[in-house]
Amino acid sequence: MPEVLITGASSGIGLALARRYLEAGYIVHVCGRSKEKLESVLPESEYIRHWCFDLSDKAAIFDVAERLPPLDGIILNAGGCEYIDDARHFDSALFERIISVNLISVGYCLEAWLGKLAPGAFLVFVSSSASYLPLPRAEAYGASKAGLTYLAKTMDVDLAGSGIQVSVVHPGFVDTPLTQKNDFPMPCQITSEQAAERIFRGVENKQFDIHFPRRFTYLLKFFGWLPHTVWRRLAAKWIKR
Ligand SMILES: NC(=O)c1ccc[n+]([C@@H]2O[C@H](COP(=O)([O-])OP(=O)(O)OC[C@H]3O[C@@H](n4cnc5c(N)ncnc54)[C@H](OP(=O)(O)O)[C@@H]3O)[C@@H](O)[C@H]2O)c1
Repeated sequence: MPEVLITGASSGIGLALARRYLEAGYIVHVCGRSKEKLESVLPESEYIRHWCFDLSDKAAIFDVAERLPPLDGIILNAGGCEYIDDARHFDSALFERIISVNLISVGYCLEAWLGKLAPGAFLVFVSSSASYLPLPRAEAYGASKAGLTYLAKTMDVDLAGSGIQVSVVHPGFVDTPLTQKNDFPMPCQITSEQAAERIFRGVENKQFDIHFPRRFTYLLKFFGWLPHTVWRRLAAKWIKR
């Protein structure tokens, strides 16, 4: 049976993806920080393996590599979101937390786990459509995801010919614990099951840039192409608090 590893599989998009890959007949290696949380949503079984560690713990990520079997896919989905509420009093601890979990940890995973992927396997980075353009209060989150998208594109260039298929995912708003904390309107929001289906199909179709819902992501892409000064004026008028 094919085997896939998914980070951040204890809730939201990662959990929905784990369920989708199980349905497709995969053995699913699900990662999260809490054994209890993983057990409550996806009890360990013949088809579900639990891996509990914090992504800031490089040694733990390498320890997982020692015990992992060869994999047919890795989905680097785990992430967090916190906002910089006052840019004039920049919170560097928050900045470090978000860059660390969303970007630096991905480097640890690549170093530790890439050798587990056989030719024909897939490697998926879950970034965000927030990376398309500078959004208010997203100094940390947006920078981490813009960095992740750049990393994914570079890996795609450097892994060309290796037989490993790289994809990067740019979701719009998805209803998960991460967005349930948001205090602003979230247009075109979809469910985590819809997001998982889009990602699953995108990977099956060997799509590099998987983005959804398209009516929202194309709009963000368009604004991202505008000169920065034009976008700054629009953002100040429409969305800056
Ligand atoms: N929801 C959206 O609208 C949206 C939009 C664009 C992109 N995304 C991206 O999609 C990915 C999944 O987000 P989600 O919305 O599904 O959020 P979520 O429901 O909050 O899930 C986040 C997952 O990441 C794991 N995680 C967080 N910090 C971790 C750490 N330090 N070590 C290990 N695991 C950690 C969590 O596991 P535990 O807490 O159990 O450890 C959880 O399983 C993220 O990368 C997010 O940036 C989401």
